Amino acid sequence: MAEIKKADGLMDWLDQRLAVKAFMRVMMTEYWIPKNINFLWAMGVVLVVLFKILIVSGIFLLMYYKPDINLAFDSVNYTIMQEVEYGWLWRHMHGVAASAIFLVIYIHMFTGIYYGSYKKGREMIWLTGMALFGLFSAEAFSGYMLPWGQMSYWAAQVITNLFGGIPLIGEALVVWIRGDFLVADATLTRFFMLHVLLLPLAIILVIAIHFYSLRFPHVNNQDSEEIDFDKEAKKYLAGKTKESKVVPFWPVFLSKDFFVVGVAMTIFFYLVCYHYDFAMDPINFEPANTMKTPAHIYPEWYFLWSYEVLRGFFFDIGGIAAMDIGLAAFGFANIIFMILPFLDRNTENVAPAHKRPMFFIWFWVLLVDMIVLTVYGKLPPTGANAWVGFFAALVFILLFVALPIITKMEAKCQGGCK
Ligand code: HEM
Repeated sequence: MAEIKKADGLMDWLDQRLAVKAFMRVMMTEYWIPKNINFLWAMGVVLVVLFKILIVSGIFLLMYYKPDINLAFDSVNYTIMQEVEYGWLWRHMHGVAASAIFLVIYIHMFTGIYYGSYKKGREMIWLTGMALFGLFSAEAFSGYMLPWGQMSYWAAQVITNLFGGIPLIGEALVVWIRGDFLVADATLTRFFMLHVLLLPLAIILVIAIHFYSLRFPHVNNQDSEEIDFDKEAKKYLAGKTKESKVVPFWPVFLSKDFFVVGVAMTIFFYLVCYHYDFAMDPINFEPANTMKTPAHIYPEWYFLWSYEVLRGFFFDIGGIAAMDIGLAAFGFANIIFMILPFLDRNTENVAPAHKRPMFFIWFWVLLVDMIVLTVYGKLPPTGANAWVGFFAALVFILLFVALPIITKMEAKCQGGCK
């Protein structure tokens, strides 16, 4: 055991036992971040803050919420919203943060795609990020069920039904997930457990791994320049802070981040106080009614693009049922972002999209296509809407089929194509 001396203060006492100074150095004061980054690199910290808001507001909601199909709706809509002091504030904060976190996750993801931050040593950052996307999706879906309103019930019905499309085990899997033959009390209680315990624990663990996986490849920068971090850090420590291309994570980088967090929080609390309804579906203010199917069933806005990929294939092709094609396309949409680092065949060239002409077009077509899918995902799938949905879903799939080809051509043409 290391020699323990009489401590000259709390910090020293902790340091002798937990090596806190070394830990702070490695993770904070000598964790080097490039200077050449913009506000988009603050999104990771905005995500951490939003996640903390979700946890704190969730704890307050948990004190009054009742996970029982006969009590859940009233516990949310009467007890929390009308009887508990400031219950409405915690509920609005929770609802708006759930929606906002997805908006910021999409910005964070597309920043990573634009600047090529998913490849050449940064694959683990991307993979853990996508694991977080999957976990947050499950967290949002399970949370949406809890108020037991009309959309909670019917969205749960539709989404759990999707698993029935898996060959051989599908039907049994649906019953296993629901804990019953129908979406019922057993479904609510297990989704409650997932929402308040298992998924948040998994999210905390994966966030820790996401941070750890950033430590060695280091954060990318606006020019995707390969920085010699050791050399630049030495310059910084020698006092040549202006000349150095890096700054320490704490306090320099985080103080800039806090400014962005401040702006984000101003917008957030404006939404909480004045426009909280953007994050809540009016139909969900009606209690769940198993005998009355809503005219249009759709998920929250952040799932609409993949929902539209599912609905887009509305006619049978070559003897294969539309439903099966849609399900396969939906599965494709949900895993394809995960393997992005391996679809990009231009592995050596980490550069921002504006320096990769073909990839630049690919990036913007993808972004616009996902916006189109999101908009049409909310509209009834009839007439021209159904066709727009079909073409947008097809473009989405073709884009990912084309990516390895485009990036391989790009790699070949690095020194100029003849
Ligand atoms: C709530 C979930 C998440 C949290 C708390 C989080 C947090 C962070 C933080 C703090 C950073 C460093 C600073 C920055 O670039 O913003 C970062 C970087 C990164 N994250 Fe996330 N992230 C989350 C989700 C995701 C998702 C869904 C993806 C997409 C797959 C992702 C991919 C990345 C990538 C590629 C980087 C490296 C950026 C670079 O090197 O320039 N993250 N994340």
